Amino acid sequence: MGRVTACEVPVTSCPLTYLFAFLTMIILIILTILFPYLSSKQKSFQDLEGLIELVRPLEAAGILVARSRDQLLSELPYITVLERESKILACATMRNLGADAAGKEVAELAAFAVHPGYRGGGKGDSLLEFLERDAVSKGVESLVLLTTRTADWFQQRGFSPAGPAHEAVEILPEQRRLRIDPARNSQLYVKLLK
Ligand SMILES: CC(C)(COP(=O)(O)OP(=O)(O)OC[C@H]1O[C@@H](n2cnc3c(N)ncnc32)[C@H](O)[C@@H]1OP(=O)(O)O)[C@@H](O)C(=O)NCCC(=O)NCCS
Repeated sequence: MGRVTACEVPVTSCPLTYLFAFLTMIILIILTILFPYLSSKQKSFQDLEGLIELVRPLEAAGILVARSRDQLLSELPYITVLERESKILACATMRNLGADAAGKEVAELAAFAVHPGYRGGGKGDSLLEFLERDAVSKGVESLVLLTTRTADWFQQRGFSPAGPAHEAVEILPEQRRLRIDPARNSQLYVKLLK
């Protein structure tokens, strides 16, 4: 009669197990180097310094709207960052604005920035793709953003001009329009999501 006996070699001492663990570790290290970590988790207070370092020069250059430290702190839950080894390489905020005049759910992207040392490597694209997928999963039907200088980059990625932001009554709710400084002459860009 045949017998089935328990294997007496402990599973962990099997050479194949060691090989598998080693290969998994190598793959994880390569993935970490090649693909920075994209995160939409609520950012913590420690992340604030990295964000400030990234956005302050852009605010000073008039590319991003200036935000106080307290404003940035209050926006942490809406911020997505792309990070590697705790260094913030790119960031953006995404906030739901509610329904537009046609009843479409709208969210606004803002403070979209890639660290100067990491530009031109597709990080902006990765961040935008992540945010678009995140928006769709939350039922958002169109993304909007206000810009004064970076329109081309967003137009090449499917955003269409919708005129001066402070006049966009069909798209932006009144409480959002009231916070826009008409003197900046920010233009509104819209992308319909599938
Ligand atoms: C715009 C920005 C987010 C792009 O990020 P990025 O990681 O460099 O973008 P990608 O690598 O995905 O794309 C790079 C391409 O965009 C082009 N590009 C960069 N800035 C651009 C701009 N302002 N307008 C048009 N194209 C631009 C580059 O020339 C490059 O083109 P190429 O691929 O033909 O060489 C980044 O340049 C940035 O942070 N700029 C300053 C902040 C800013 O303007 N934010 C937008 C506020 S509304």
